[in-house]
Amino acid sequence: MISTDKAIALEDKYGAHNYHPLPVVLSKGEGVFVWDPEGNKYYDFLSAYSAVNQGHCHPKIVKALQDQAETLTLTSRAFYNSVLGEFEEYITRYFGFDRVLPMNTGAEGVETAIKICRKWGYEKKGIPENEAIIIVCEDNFHGRTTTVISFSNDPDAKKNFGPYTPGFQKIPYNDLEALSEALKNKHVVGFLVEPIQGEAGVVVPDQDYISRAKELCADHNVLFIADEIQTGIARTGSLLAVCGNCTCENSCERSSTYVKPDILILGKALSGGAYPVSAVLADDDIMNVIKPGQHGSTYGGNPLAAKVAIAALDVVNEEHLAQNARKLGKLFRSEMQKLVDESDLFLSVRGKGLLNAVIINDSPNSDTAWRFCVAMKENGLLAKPTHGNIIRFAPPLVMSESELMECVTIIKTTLTEFVK
Ligand SMILES: Cc1ncc(COP(=O)(O)O)c(C=O)c1O
Repeated sequence: MISTDKAIALEDKYGAHNYHPLPVVLSKGEGVFVWDPEGNKYYDFLSAYSAVNQGHCHPKIVKALQDQAETLTLTSRAFYNSVLGEFEEYITRYFGFDRVLPMNTGAEGVETAIKICRKWGYEKKGIPENEAIIIVCEDNFHGRTTTVISFSNDPDAKKNFGPYTPGFQKIPYNDLEALSEALKNKHVVGFLVEPIQGEAGVVVPDQDYISRAKELCADHNVLFIADEIQTGIARTGSLLAVCGNCTCENSCERSSTYVKPDILILGKALSGGAYPVSAVLADDDIMNVIKPGQHGSTYGGNPLAAKVAIAALDVVNEEHLAQNARKLGKLFRSEMQKLVDESDLFLSVRGKGLLNAVIINDSPNSDTAWRFCVAMKENGLLAKPTHGNIIRFAPPLVMSESELMECVTIIKTTLTEFVK
């Protein structure tokens, strides 16, 4: 087995330096745990940015992957395949939409949603050609493609990658007045929003923000597009963050708190980390604007992805992951609040379900949060700062209460030992 030092040296020498990883090499994963090549065991508190909600190498997902890999992996959409229809029926029923457009990565899902929304705007709403506007929020994170970074306000994501794609208007997050004002423009076709801003530092909006934003969009015949790539699939304590306080295992209109998006974008945990799978869901009147030849991807909707995604969604239901995320999330935040009250280093804690963040009492330009994460790593827990002084805590949702309490002890011990 390669050593940690050798693996890091190879990445350093031969890879593009587009990431700044914590100095740990992972060579094995199971459930909530990962191991480095030297055999050291860690709690994973990032879950590959919320892709591994079902835990590392979940046996049911791995089996689906293995079985399908031995049968048929890729056909392209030039032909029908024997699994895609089954997946399409499964996922549309699961999330309560008429149709799905399968893709691979999250950013492709966002691009797909933007294209569907613009086309709907021209063909159904009657917007003059090339005039469509999509409203987005400040501090958004929707991926890394050229169009998506065009409406980012993160200088690292954006600088020197222009010229940028036009057609987006940015408003502050969690600001219904700003949305109301922006919607006065008759050329607006969509509002693209994260129900909780994950990359921005787990920013949770006011409780009625999402429902009122959807109402405002409906009043103006504007599509409400929810990017649930990070928040979806049980992460925030309900199947989708737009389910609000409902813990049932279906996203459905049975709950009064459910806000049905016009377009729903999913990715990450749709495969439980086993394979890149993303999906865009919408009802007929919206999805049917897409005709043959107008959008696609060689790998999108391949049989391997389809089987893996069915298994991954099965696991979410069978293991009641939304309920577990809700219960453990409350416990985690209450334990972190105690540390906030006791220590000068932890300023505050926020989040929903098992998508949480602790704000470190130092400038976003300091390396304090980074050094704290390195110290937690030494004690057996892996998490990473987002935006300088914010540490995101997002473990796999299969964690048990006693494991969570062990993690709280690790964080507490690290805090006691840490020298700012
Ligand atoms: C809300 C949101 N949208 C889109 C993406 C992009 O997904 P991917 O990295 O799979 O392209 C991410 C990734 O972190 C995300 O959190």
